[in-house]
Amino acid sequence: MKGEDILFSIPFPVAITDGEGRITNVNQKFEILVNRSFKYLEGKKLSSFFRRAPDIDRKISEAFSNLVEVLGFKDGQYFLNFAPFFISSEVKGVIVVVQPAPESPFEKDIVAFLKGLSHEIRNPLSGIKGAAKCLKELKLYDEELVSVLIEETERIERLLNNVVKSFDFSVLNLKEVNIHKIIQLVVKLFEAELRESGVNVVYDFDPSLPEILLDPDRITQALINVFKNALEAVTESSRKEVRIETGYAIHPSGFIFIRVKDSGVGMSEEELANLFLPFYTTKEKGSGLGAFITNEIVRRHGGEIRVKSEKGKGTEVTILLPMKRSDGKDTNSR
Ligand SMILES: Nc1ncnc2c1ncn2[C@@H]1O[C@H](COP(=O)(O)OP(=O)(O)OP(=O)(O)O)[C@@H](O)[C@H]1O
Ligand SMILES: [Mg+2]
Repeated sequence: MKGEDILFSIPFPVAITDGEGRITNVNQKFEILVNRSFKYLEGKKLSSFFRRAPDIDRKISEAFSNLVEVLGFKDGQYFLNFAPFFISSEVKGVIVVVQPAPESPFEKDIVAFLKGLSHEIRNPLSGIKGAAKCLKELKLYDEELVSVLIEETERIERLLNNVVKSFDFSVLNLKEVNIHKIIQLVVKLFEAELRESGVNVVYDFDPSLPEILLDPDRITQALINVFKNALEAVTESSRKEVRIETGYAIHPSGFIFIRVKDSGVGMSEEELANLFLPFYTTKEKGSGLGAFITNEIVRRHGGEIRVKSEKGKGTEVTILLPMKRSDGKDTNSR
């Protein structure tokens, strides 16, 4: 196979330059990337096509003279990799492979989060401002308007409390814990509500589950959110039941599962798709952060959440948590 063929088969944009960074060959992917044909590119400086990384010429000369590889050099949305280009063990230039820099999901999440947050704060604030203006014009005390002021202020308070909570799990405080004890504690927190609403909680635990390494406060928080959603979903149902099951997951293995099943309102496909988005809520007093926070907590533990739901029938939320200990051993292989 000729060098040209290899160059054309590489699934990334690739250019070959001389020791001074002038283009001597490119593959088609590179032509597409910079939107220029090889005819145009030949002899031009590679650095003129990647202006966000001023050091390109230096990197090329380094790779060429010192025969070193420079990998993952970032230029905006690209990673550039430089390596000396040999023909019959003689260095003939520098081969430059361009890879798209992976988008940081966290950055994307945080932008969406902040947009959502400012939107959510602006709504109640405009309510407060409107009510305050009316009061000023009326020059008298109006009970309804004052209650708008209080309610909307409380809404901001709830929202900000949840925002603080959602960023407060960066450091996990891991301990070996009995997950069944945590579940029972969570349900106990809702004792009064359960009695009042007549909701029945059924347990189906696998008693052989080992203790696993978790941050008990964070997992409690996650389970509160899931359980609260289940309760809210069944309050209007004829069958008011929430089932909590635990066991060993089959897929993936090495995980335990905690499943919260409710026979409540269920979600449409669209609702299900939006469930984990920050600030997505269909409830009058919801912040839409419960599921988002839960998902973050579970992900930080190396786990994942799976949700099945059918409108009008009910919802099944399965939390998968790894049985690994911090020393890398499985908890159940001790
Ligand atoms: N068990 C469930 N049954 C039906 N719908 C659910 C269930 N869990 C979540 N949802 C839907 O997903 C939305 C988002 O849930 P999430 O817990 O993030 O926010 P919320 O419950 O609305 O507000 P908050 O958790 O702050 O009280 C809910 O508004 C609801 O529409
Ligand atoms: Mg909720």
